[in-house]
Amino acid sequence: MNIKNICCIGAGYVGGPTMSVIAAKCPDIKVNVVDLNKQRIAAWNETDLDKLPIYEPGLSAIVAQARGRNLFFSTDVDQAILDADMIFISVNTPTKTYGIGKGMAADLKYIELCARQIAAVAKTDKIIVEKSTLPVRTAEALKSILSSTGNGVNFQVLSNPEFLAEGTAVQDLLEPDRVLIGGERTEEGEVAMQALHDVFHNWIPSERILLTNVWSSELSKLTANAFLAQRVSSINSLSALCEATEADVDEVARAIGQDSRIGPKFLKSSVGFGGSCFQKDILNLVYLCQTYGLQEVADYWHQVIKMNDYQKRRFAQKIISTLYNTVNGKKIVLLGWAFKKDTNDTRESAAIYVADYLLSEMAELVVYDPKVTAEQIYADLDYLNTRSESENRNLVTVANNYDELFDDAHAVAVMTEWDEFKEIDWEHVFDRMLKPAFIFDGRAILDMPALENIGFRGFAIGKG
Ligand code: UDX
Ligand code: ADP
Repeated sequence: MNIKNICCIGAGYVGGPTMSVIAAKCPDIKVNVVDLNKQRIAAWNETDLDKLPIYEPGLSAIVAQARGRNLFFSTDVDQAILDADMIFISVNTPTKTYGIGKGMAADLKYIELCARQIAAVAKTDKIIVEKSTLPVRTAEALKSILSSTGNGVNFQVLSNPEFLAEGTAVQDLLEPDRVLIGGERTEEGEVAMQALHDVFHNWIPSERILLTNVWSSELSKLTANAFLAQRVSSINSLSALCEATEADVDEVARAIGQDSRIGPKFLKSSVGFGGSCFQKDILNLVYLCQTYGLQEVADYWHQVIKMNDYQKRRFAQKIISTLYNTVNGKKIVLLGWAFKKDTNDTRESAAIYVADYLLSEMAELVVYDPKVTAEQIYADLDYLNTRSESENRNLVTVANNYDELFDDAHAVAVMTEWDEFKEIDWEHVFDRMLKPAFIFDGRAILDMPALENIGFRGFAIGKG
C-alpha cells in the first residue's frame, strides 16, 4: 500500500516537527497538519520563520524546504481527514485534573474527540496512527470507537510512539535510534504496519524500524521515559549526598558512566527533570500498575517522581536558608524558565516550582529566558493557583535582556542550562549585585571556583 496523503491532527511540539520532517523527506506525499487552534496554525504559516509557534534548532530550515510544496498547515480538520490515507493523532494527553485517576491517569478526551470526528467524517478506509503519548490499551479504545460507526469504512490502528527530545527534535527525527511501529498481528494489520514502515524507510534504514504488537509498542514508550527519568532521579538523589560529603556529583557521574554497562547519558544532576513527558508517563505507568493490583511495582516507579519533587524543593530551600532564612522582599534573578535549553517549552519546568516556593516566602523574582515569553511565564504561575494573578505580577518581573537584570540582586539562580549563560561577564554581574552576592547553579554549568575567586558565594547542585 502506497501512502500518498497524510493528515496529522495536532500541530504541537510532536505533530509540527514530525510532519515537517516527513514532508521534507517524502516529497511525493502530501502532508496536511491540522489543529483547532487558529493562532497556532497562523504561526505555522508565518512568512517570518522566526515566528513559528515552537522553537527547535534546525526546524525553520526544514519548514522552509517543504511548506507550500507538500506540507500544509490548516484548521480545516474535516477536509484533511477526508483526503488522507493515513491519519496521525498528535493531540495533547495531559494528566487528568479531575475524577477517577485524577493527578495520575492521562486525560483522553482530546483523543476520543478526534476518533469520533474521524469516524463521522471518513468515507474511505484509513490507517490511524497514535502518536501522542498514551497509556497502554488506548489503541483498543480508538479501534472500538472507530469501528462502531457502521458506515462500512475500515480502520487499522497503529501505535507509533514518539521518542524525539525537545531541543534536538529535528536531529532525533532525521537520525532516530529506532522507530517503533505497533500493530495488529493480522493480515490487514501487517499491511498497515508495512505502509508506515515504507514512509519512514524513505530516510531510515529498515534495521532501525521495529515492528511489534500494539501493547508492546505503547508500553515501550512509557518504559523508555521511566528508565531515563529514573537515571536522572538516581543521580539527583546522590547529589544531595555529595553536597553533604566531600564527593562531587559530576566526578561520580563520570566514574560510573564510564562503565560501558551503565553508559554516560542522562547522568547529569540538576534541579530536577521537567518536560511534558517524564512525569506524565511515569504517573501513567504507576496508575497502570495500580489498576492491575501491582502496588509494589507502582511504588517503585512513583519514587522517581517523589525524588524529583524533593530535588526542586531542596534547591529552593537551599536558597532560602543561605539567604539567612528569609527572602522576603529580596530580589532573586532566575536565569532560564524553559525545562531544558534550546526549547521554548516550559511544561513541568523545575523553574516554575522553585519560583512558586520562593514566592510563597515573598521573594521578588526577576526572570530572564532567551526564548520564553512573559505571557507564558505568568500563565505558568497562574496555573498553579497558589496566589492571585495580580500577586504574581507584583512579585515577578520578566526581563527580556540583561540590562539592569542583576542590579541590587541578592542572588542569582541558574534554572536552565542555556549556552549563553556560560558567556555572561560575571565580574560585571558581581559589581552590580548586593553583597554578599550568592549564586545557585541548578544545572551545574558554571565554573563555580572561578566565580568564588571574584567574590561570589556559590552553590552548585551536587558540590559540597
Ligand atoms: C523525553 C525523552 O528523552 C524523549 O525520548 C521522549 O520522546 C519525550 O520525553 P524531553 O522531555 O523533550 O524528551 O527532554 P529530555 O532531554 O529527555 O529531558 C527531560 C528533562 O530531564 C529535562 O528537564 C532535562 O533537563 C532533564 N535531564 C536530562 C537532567 O536533569 N539530567 C540529564 O542527565 C538529562
Ligand atoms: P504535544 O507536545 O503532544 O505535541 P501540544 O499541546 O504541543 O502537545 O499539541 C497538541 C495540539 O493538539 C494542540 O495544538 C491542540 O490545539 C491540538 N488539538 C487537541 N485536540 C484537537 C482536535 N480534536 N482537533 C484538532 N487539534 C486538536
